Amino acid sequence: MKILPKLLAMGLLISFAAGISGCGSKTAETTSPASVPASTEASEPPQLSIDIPLNDVTLPESQAAGNSNSESTAETTAGAAQSPTGDVDLSKVIALTFDDGPDTKDTSSTNRILDVLEQYNCKATFFVQGQAAQEWLPERNKDTVKREADLGMEIGTHTYSHADLRKLTADGVAEEIQKGKQAITDITGNEVSIMRPPYGETSSETQDSIGMPMILWDVDTLDWDTKDAQNTAQVILEKAKGGSIVLMHDIYNTTADAIEIVVPQLVEQGYTLVTVSELFELYGTELKPGYYYTNAREEGTLTSPFSH
Ligand code: NI
Repeated sequence: MKILPKLLAMGLLISFAAGISGCGSKTAETTSPASVPASTEASEPPQLSIDIPLNDVTLPESQAAGNSNSESTAETTAGAAQSPTGDVDLSKVIALTFDDGPDTKDTSSTNRILDVLEQYNCKATFFVQGQAAQEWLPERNKDTVKREADLGMEIGTHTYSHADLRKLTADGVAEEIQKGKQAITDITGNEVSIMRPPYGETSSETQDSIGMPMILWDVDTLDWDTKDAQNTAQVILEKAKGGSIVLMHDIYNTTADAIEIVVPQLVEQGYTLVTVSELFELYGTELKPGYYYTNAREEGTLTSPFSH
């Protein structure tokens, strides 16, 4: 019975790959029932199959029934272990990120972006400004942040008041970070594990007070400056590559316009859009406090502040 284990291995790899090639694939929600308890489904981003060691994957009953031979299970696991990312093409995985939101004007740009991501079943990361979520349009914006979490988007902190961390004392930095994280956790119930410094800037004297991985970018769309949807979309299509982190701002309608243009094209080109944490997990890089990350490729991990 050599064929059965091979079939099982193939099936596992296929379902594993399908689980993370989320964009455009309606199978993306397929995940091991054991990994995501139903009760937390709404508040926890579905980490999909990325977080699931393959030997923890629960076989569907029909397969499990035919898989009474424990040897075949071992062979399946060993075969899969050689390919920890399944069939995902790392040259086609990127992380879109959005800063400064939720939008606080009468634009609904954050929700427009979420509409597109939801439609194409893609993931992204929102670096939320705590004050915008808690104090500005609190009724709507808390719902927006909750929706981000419910859709499986990753939420990082962009500090509480969009502070320039270069100008604060160590205590001031720690307070901005803590307040910013708490604002998100109060809404979503989820812990916040990544941050993006406003202006991409910190100071060497106080950066230890941040105590989190600092997520920068390698593709700057300059969407806030051009406010030109076509240009923003074009920068992404020309510059983003496997492992890239793309900087945008969800507070502009022109950025929402760009997302309506670019997401269908990226999906068409076979790209998978994942959260920042998923991106680094796929690349096998552990995100550590005190380090800067501009992308998930080897050169993307930095120990000194980013200058731009
Ligand atoms: Ni900002």
